[in-house]
Amino acid sequence: MVEPTPPSQHLPRHVAVIMDGNGRWARERGEDRIFGHASGVESVRSAVSAAGELGVGYLTLYAFSTENWSRPQEEINALMELLVKSLAGEVAELIRKGVRLRSTGDISALPDACIAGLRDVEQKTAHCEGLNLILALSYSGRWELTEAVRRIVRSGMELEGFVGAKGGQSAVPAAPAAPPGPGAPPTPPAPPAPPAPPAPPAPPVAPPAPAAP
Ligand code: IPE
Ligand code: MG
Repeated sequence: MVEPTPPSQHLPRHVAVIMDGNGRWARERGEDRIFGHASGVESVRSAVSAAGELGVGYLTLYAFSTENWSRPQEEINALMELLVKSLAGEVAELIRKGVRLRSTGDISALPDACIAGLRDVEQKTAHCEGLNLILALSYSGRWELTEAVRRIVRSGMELEGFVGAKGGQSAVPAAPAAPPGPGAPPTPPAPPAPPAPPAPPAPPVAPPAPAAP
């Protein structure tokens, strides 16, 4: 009989979950959607425990997309309240399990209480060295792309041959320069590039945002 390989050798470094189906799950039980969301917290707890015990490096939970902002206000409020309550209620257990909480997405779009709750737990778990739990909130593929470009520009990363490269290097691989036509003004020298601000801390390795369910 072939012995199974120890699971740690097959472990993905990063697992991402698109949270979906809370409403349907609740409806099947004759309950309302908000009950489904509240019950979803238990699934999150199980997933976090399992990922931590198995030794997965990163667990990203795609919890609330930018499209979800178009849901009924009552449901959005319930989700945001649930987030605040869960963060406060779970922080001690996260620390006990060595789980470090991080977040991604347009966090500035969240209500102040959510931002404060997130920052509080991020700070309290910053020393944890087990699972990295990443909450994707107000996420979208568009936000991830623009944010990636913003960070590249902020970090002053060398991108040879691309517009905005550090040092004011030229754009897209330059086409051979046409000789100036008669009477064409001389090309002024490019102004020096402003110094790049210090790079922000490296973001956790994250897969691209999925389409919102
Ligand atoms: C949870 O599931 C995902 C969230 C945005 C919180 P849904 O709320 O999308 O549930 P279904 O898909 O309507 O069943
Ligand atoms: Mg859904």
